Amino acid sequence: MSSQFKTVTIAGGTGTLGYHIADAFLNDGSYDVKILRRKPKTENEKANLLASKGAEIVYIDYDQKDDLVEALKGSDVVISVLGYSDGKLYENQIPLLTAAKEASVKRFIPSEFGSEFKVGVHPTPDGKIKFEEAVMKSGLEYTIIFNGLFQEFLSWIGFDVKNKKATFYADGNKKLHTTSLADVGRYTVETLKMPEARNAVIKVAGATMSLNEYLQEFEKITGSKWEVVVDEEVKHRYKNKIDPIPSPEEDFKATLVQNEQYKDLDNDKFSFTPHPVTEVIEKLVKQAA
Ligand SMILES: NC(=O)c1ccc[n+]([C@@H]2O[C@H](COP(=O)([O-])OP(=O)(O)OC[C@H]3O[C@@H](n4cnc5c(N)ncnc54)[C@H](OP(=O)(O)O)[C@@H]3O)[C@@H](O)[C@H]2O)c1
Repeated sequence: MSSQFKTVTIAGGTGTLGYHIADAFLNDGSYDVKILRRKPKTENEKANLLASKGAEIVYIDYDQKDDLVEALKGSDVVISVLGYSDGKLYENQIPLLTAAKEASVKRFIPSEFGSEFKVGVHPTPDGKIKFEEAVMKSGLEYTIIFNGLFQEFLSWIGFDVKNKKATFYADGNKKLHTTSLADVGRYTVETLKMPEARNAVIKVAGATMSLNEYLQEFEKITGSKWEVVVDEEVKHRYKNKIDPIPSPEEDFKATLVQNEQYKDLDNDKFSFTPHPVTEVIEKLVKQAA
């Protein structure tokens, strides 16, 4: 598969997910990769690693529109992997979108990389949805990527490796999409080569398993039976939720309680098979040892 794009700018490319997306583009080898970081320049191990593999690191003040436009000129694609600060993601990304348009960027990938959430219940994803609507109206090409929970974040939904304890916030048969950070990177790279990803929402998952099935993998890899508790209070709280849900971590618990997982996955449009979830679970177990 080849891409019509050559230069990719990744805003937040040294963050938790951004690093893996940047690394996947550099490993692909067919792109010039630029990474935007906020001024002032600070020592950063991930930035050094990515620079050693060929990325150009650019320090920018996102409030200086002319500088931002200048930094984006010549980029075919802008990928926002900005994180929340003070719960804000819409506001953080707007200057980037405005500048991308002015710099005649061709495609914009917003900082989504999560799960589908109901509108009006989860304030943090609400900001993402509002921004995605702005991207769709911008006139730029776009791809929005849903990947479920990062496998590295399985503790968010109750898998406590250190104490070999699982807290279930939903029925053990409830399924959850999860994807490793490295595979989110690989999926993102390949969307640029797929005609189906132009102006589209792409849904992928490295694994779609029930809570019981994730638990079995943790038990196999740790070689021991885990304590399992069911958190009825959270189950009840989020089932009847009227007030907004306060944090990304709680959003994923609530999503387990409230949502059916999406069924129309796009995995079969990609040329590769994601890594088995056991690879991340093995890493999590090693880290906790
Ligand atoms: N599916 C999941 O399980 C899951 C879990 C966590 C996150 N996510 C999603 O993944 C995406 C990236 O999250 P992340 O955790 O990788 O982000 P992160 O590491 O918290 O932040 C990414 C980068 O954003 C930049 N940044 C932070 N605040 C900023 C601001 N106010 N203005 C401009 N840049 C700012 C920083 O880069 P510099 O300091 O270098 O400028 C930072 O390294 C988000 O959409 C998030 O919701 C999904």
